[in-house]
Amino acid sequence: MSLKEKINSSKLPQHIAVIMDGNGRWAKQKGAERIYGHENGVKSVRETVEAAAELGIKYLTLYAFSTENWNRPQEEVMALMQLLVHTISAETKTLNENNIRLAAIGDLKSLPSDCYNELQEAIKKTAGNNRTTLVLALSYSSRWEIINAVKEIAQKVQDGLMQASTINEDTINSHLCTADMPEPELMIRTSGENRISNFLLWQLAYAELYFTDKLWPDFRKEDFYEAIVDYQNRERRFGKTSEQLIS
Ligand code: IPE
Ligand code: IPE
Ligand code: MG
Repeated sequence: MSLKEKINSSKLPQHIAVIMDGNGRWAKQKGAERIYGHENGVKSVRETVEAAAELGIKYLTLYAFSTENWNRPQEEVMALMQLLVHTISAETKTLNENNIRLAAIGDLKSLPSDCYNELQEAIKKTAGNNRTTLVLALSYSSRWEIINAVKEIAQKVQDGLMQASTINEDTINSHLCTADMPEPELMIRTSGENRISNFLLWQLAYAELYFTDKLWPDFRKEDFYEAIVDYQNRERRFGKTSEQLIS
């Protein structure tokens, strides 16, 4: 039985989040510049998006650039932004052909203007699609997102639009960038690093975490299937006991 056949289509996660890590090390292993790794990571993005759409995963969030990544050497940051502009414009047609909607979370206004414009254009052009939503986390960090949410909520309280005592989980959820999305049930990180790196801290509260040593440019559909099969073999208890889940 192939890995794909092992996937139970009635138990699919609705939302999968991925930390695409290891591009720099992949390039280094090949004696190349870091950007060569980023360029080769694009194929893995294509494969993953295609696999998610084929399986019927409703939301796929890819961590492409963090707030902290701005602190990398300027040359790498610029090359990454150019790669982003180029990839988004080149892939819009394929997204439409496959009925995939593009969305983005993060401090998008901090992106270079050509990048921001290209992104908004692609989001607009794919807005009518409904098979899968591909969410790019760009200039994103979870602490940035939570700070923003707190500021907005505090402002509403100050303006008398809301009472502090009524703040609950839904209030927080609805002020995050992911307000209209289900929580990720599965988070995949490549490259053997076992950390979250400021990604969806609130939303991943009960997500299953899956770590693989594969470097991102080597990540293929089969690796994605493997993560889903692993996820489907876990027992998600949400604080309850195993016995409670059966009864
Ligand atoms: C992930 O690969 C891509 C981004 C963070 C933009 P890295 O560039 O972090 O690669 P490593 O972790 O240094 O190998
Ligand atoms: C996380 O990877 C961010 C992205 C994949 C975009 P990093 O390579 O920046 O994370 P750390 O620095 O290893 O934690
Ligand atoms: Mg890294």
